[in-house]
Amino acid sequence: MKLSGFSKYFLIWAKIIYYILGNYKTNILFKLGYFKTNNGSTHFRFNSISDSLKYINQVFDDYLSFAEISVKDIKGKNILELGPGDNFGVALKFLIAGANKIVCLDKFYSNRDVSQQYQIYKAIRDELLPEEKINFDNIVKLDSQAVEFISDKFEYIYGTGIENALNVLSPTFFDMIVSRAVLEHIPDLDATFDTMDKLLCTDGYMIHNVDLKDHGIFTSKGLHPLTFLSVSEKIWKLMTSYNGKPNRMRIDYYRRKMEELNYKYRIKTIHITTLPVIEEIKPQLQSQFRKMLSEDLMPETIFLIAKKRNKNNS
Ligand SMILES: C[S@@+](CC[C@H](N)C(=O)[O-])C[C@H]1O[C@@H](n2cnc3c(N)ncnc32)[C@H](O)[C@@H]1O
Repeated sequence: MKLSGFSKYFLIWAKIIYYILGNYKTNILFKLGYFKTNNGSTHFRFNSISDSLKYINQVFDDYLSFAEISVKDIKGKNILELGPGDNFGVALKFLIAGANKIVCLDKFYSNRDVSQQYQIYKAIRDELLPEEKINFDNIVKLDSQAVEFISDKFEYIYGTGIENALNVLSPTFFDMIVSRAVLEHIPDLDATFDTMDKLLCTDGYMIHNVDLKDHGIFTSKGLHPLTFLSVSEKIWKLMTSYNGKPNRMRIDYYRRKMEELNYKYRIKTIHITTLPVIEEIKPQLQSQFRKMLSEDLMPETIFLIAKKRNKNNS
């Protein structure tokens, strides 16, 4: 159904007010030490354990295939996973593949269903080869519906965002930093890349999947997928500065940042908004987006694969 001009205007402002209130509520709760959120409760929303397994395997396989590395390349590595959400299946896969250590760092604590989590880890174990099961049992204890991570190869830190991670992690410790659907939730990406650069060792990799869409803020009400780029920067900040809603950075930002940090990098676009859909709304976008090449507004999901160069630039 096509919305009239008035209905659109009303819906947009209703959403803006709703998100501004939610943003400040999140900030107050976070300052009071309440880190729980449904952001990242990915598995909680799945209908079956097989959906969870499929997701975990897909996320892990994507890291390897987009970075063009194999399981062998993971052996002995120290890995940082940003924003794991409500499950550590991907981290487990890295450890079973031979990683030396994995740290899962999350600003929030994603709400989770304890009995579902038990079933997921059990299903991960059931899929493993006998020698991998031994490895699994050295990392996770599954006992009467409870899950306990018992190895110091695994660490979960929540309550600290990646922007402030140097308060809790050591510089140059990591060989790899990975994330799925996380960077778009962080308001200060300059601080985030700065920190990740310090945490990575020379020749270390970053592999990030970034979702550039509006995360349903306006599209859930049938509005154009780029409506969120028509909101002024000031209002967008009021709506999103604390609650992990999308930061609106486009592909050009990631390119610029990688050049600035002198990384060797590739950005692969996975899904796009088509040109006619972009042209339909482009005149109404905020000037920083209006000035951009339409091609740079097309990517909806990207993979950034970047390697920290050594001092000789190789
Ligand atoms: C959409 S969820 C993705 C969860 C998981 N990676 C997945 O694929 O299901 C985004 C995650 O990023 C986390 N997050 C948000 N801001 C963060 C920050 N500044 N530092 C680290 N993690 C953050 C959220 O708490 C949440 O777990």
